[in-house]
Amino acid sequence: MKYSKYSVVIIGSGIAGLYAALKIEQQTHLHDGILLITKSKLGESNSRYAQGGMVAVMKDNKSDSTESHITDTIKAGAGLSEFNTVKFISENSDAVVKDLLKFGVEFDRDENNNLCFTKEAAHSVRRILHSGGDATGKMIEKVLTKDVSENPNIDVYEQTVAVELLIDSKQECKGLIVFNDLTKEYETIYSSAVILATGGLGQLFKYTTNPAVATGDGIALAYNAGAVLRDLEFIQFHPTALAIDGDENRFLISEAVRGEGAKLVDADGIEFMYKYHENRELAPRDIVTRANYNEMIKNKVDHVYLNATCIPKEKLAERFPNISRICSENGIDIAHDFIPVAPAAHYSMGGVKTNLEGETSIKGLYAIGEVASTGLHGGNRLASNSLLECVVCAFKVADVLKNKELKTPKQIDSDLKAVIDKYSKDLLMEEIDIDILKHELQDIMWRGAGILRSQKTLTTALEEISSLSKKFPRSVKCLNKEEYEFKNMLIVSKLIIMAALDRKESRGAHYRLDYVDTNETGVHSLITKAEGELSFVR
Ligand code: FAD
Ligand code: SIN
Repeated sequence: MKYSKYSVVIIGSGIAGLYAALKIEQQTHLHDGILLITKSKLGESNSRYAQGGMVAVMKDNKSDSTESHITDTIKAGAGLSEFNTVKFISENSDAVVKDLLKFGVEFDRDENNNLCFTKEAAHSVRRILHSGGDATGKMIEKVLTKDVSENPNIDVYEQTVAVELLIDSKQECKGLIVFNDLTKEYETIYSSAVILATGGLGQLFKYTTNPAVATGDGIALAYNAGAVLRDLEFIQFHPTALAIDGDENRFLISEAVRGEGAKLVDADGIEFMYKYHENRELAPRDIVTRANYNEMIKNKVDHVYLNATCIPKEKLAERFPNISRICSENGIDIAHDFIPVAPAAHYSMGGVKTNLEGETSIKGLYAIGEVASTGLHGGNRLASNSLLECVVCAFKVADVLKNKELKTPKQIDSDLKAVIDKYSKDLLMEEIDIDILKHELQDIMWRGAGILRSQKTLTTALEEISSLSKKFPRSVKCLNKEEYEFKNMLIVSKLIIMAALDRKESRGAHYRLDYVDTNETGVHSLITKAEGELSFVR
């Protein structure tokens, strides 16, 4: 097997991973360099599809304040947001936005060249920056991707999957094993700082706004390594994904469309959100999602509609060029027609538990972006807080690494040799049709661990996953990227179900039909792998 060493390895090339690579390179002289690995093409990620925007509490914006942003975030977080984290991320937003502007990211501006702010659900003021109208993620990523590719001090491996973290007998991370999906070769990479920036897990569910790469790999890698995971049961389902027959990977209709005045209606054009929340279309996301779902069940239909015809045609075209285009390609003129929408899995609030420095429970292993659970989002993420969290946490981890002596390990212990050996052996493996298994799993998770759950749906899902696992006879090595992803999807699905079974209440995005009330105090769920078994940390 090939060997290499780097001072820092970043896994993932969404906004968190790309920005971390650039900030680390700017701030730190690293003897053994920086490696960024990504399992698809550079830039393919959830980040690329972000639409609505990024929260920015700018110091010179007199109509906003960090206090107001903290209050809104904590209110949406359903009792599980950590005050210090929310404060830290909010207070750093001014600095990171200014830094992104320096990198050349262009946020939309008005005719006087002032930054434009939009509003999304549960924000009390207009504080969301956007770019390219409704292409915020793509516009930020384009700049960062170009900078990373042109930077001679950052090595990039594309089409390369991180398959196992190397954890030594002192429970310290010493690097990882990667698999090149093009050459089918493995490589051992030694490093004393590995940063997980692997994003989300929407692909675990039948309907999702997430692209194919969002298979929860970082959570599975961290779990297998023995890291502590937090609040995995909190999956955010976005209320308005474009519902076109047969499409399971669903294009998002941004919340910003509702922020500009669009209304949710039934097939007869009758509004219904007044029945569910005083803030109607701009109620917290979990409430709008359940409202849509409830209307769908009640009326035995598979979507509701978004009526954006009240927004002037010119404004729709200017603010939402991509949404207008994609809808038009599907025969929907959003200035005249209702848009068919339904909920879809969108974001993972839980993840690998970190402190404000990005450190996980394993020395040398860091996590940033959607894969991390910093305590910002609690049980329900406030719109556009994710991109902010990605950049603030990437900025911070770079700052933390600046002060560390990042020597690559010279020697590895025998435990690690045994792990590396497992990947060096040639095995005879028969091809498996992963697409079929993946669809089965996505269907099980949608039915059993979706928007409305209960003991019955969750235990059924667990049993069904056990039977499905028997059709996938891989314990260590796999044949290709898709198999590695499916292996991770099975692990993460079980973890989500176990966490959801354990939380006997409804809170934020976790709604139990058999426990509809919310407990008086919010308690985090913490899971780890101890002696090979899933174990709750109490
Ligand atoms: P990602 O951007 O998902 O990147 C993860 C990277 O890791 C990818 O490059 C992937 O290929 C790589 N990877 C994963 N596993 C492995 C592995 N095993 N080996 C190697 N590489 C791996 N948030 C907002 O704040 N505002 C918005 O407007 C907004 N809109 C959204 C719209 C859509 C349609 C979606 C899907 C999400 C949206 N979000 C939004 C959420 C936000 O985009 C994401 O949470 C955020 O971009 C995550 O960034 P990340 O860098 O953590 O991960
Ligand atoms: C959206 O544009 O509706 C998505 C925003 C987000 O997920 O933060």
